[in-house]
Amino acid sequence: MLTIAVPKGALYDDSAALLRSAGIDVPDDVGRKLAVVTSDGTQLLFLRPSDVPAYVEFGAADCGIVGKDVLWETDRMVSELSDLGFGYCRLCVAARRIDRYHEGAPFPTFLRVATKFERSAEAYFAERDLPVELIPLHGSVELSPIVGLADLIVDLVATGNTLREHDMVIVDEIAASTARFVVNPVRFRTKHDEIIALLERLDAAVRA
Ligand code: PRP
Repeated sequence: MLTIAVPKGALYDDSAALLRSAGIDVPDDVGRKLAVVTSDGTQLLFLRPSDVPAYVEFGAADCGIVGKDVLWETDRMVSELSDLGFGYCRLCVAARRIDRYHEGAPFPTFLRVATKFERSAEAYFAERDLPVELIPLHGSVELSPIVGLADLIVDLVATGNTLREHDMVIVDEIAASTARFVVNPVRFRTKHDEIIALLERLDAAVRA
């Protein structure tokens, strides 16, 4: 039987719906449960999205669902088998509208960039030869330019509501992200038939 890492938060509802379509009996209300064994014997682990790659790399889970945005930021050795299509969002550079960087206003010489996506942000600005001071944050990143902590942010934009509500705009798009099905490479060999069967059911549900 398989152990599947399931992300809590924004990807949870679509992950649960997709797993149900693939025949896994995901409970309606997991409450504060950390793990459950479903009626068919599948174990589900409910994790912070950024923790999914570690559980899968070390084999605590055989496979899992995780946003591509999390995979960009990690060296964890997991194999990405499928794009599940949901959870679409864009990693963007954004700023306060009044700073007019989106209209080409020059950046300050000492650019401060707040982000939860250090690696992606570092690569983006290095590629453009823009020296920046990165300020790693863990949430509410949109607040940082408003209170003078940063000039720019690098963050995910899904509906765009958070930016709009804070009178901020996209300056540039870095990449698009969706949810991915990932596996532990060793388990992919030792539990090959089970994982392929799940992959096929997930892909069929995605296409339906
Ligand atoms: C994410 C992201 C943005 C927001 C974008 O934050 O970091 O803040 O969602 O979504 P939107 O374009 O639909 O408004 P999250 O909800 O993960 O909360 P956080 O700020 O605590 O990280």
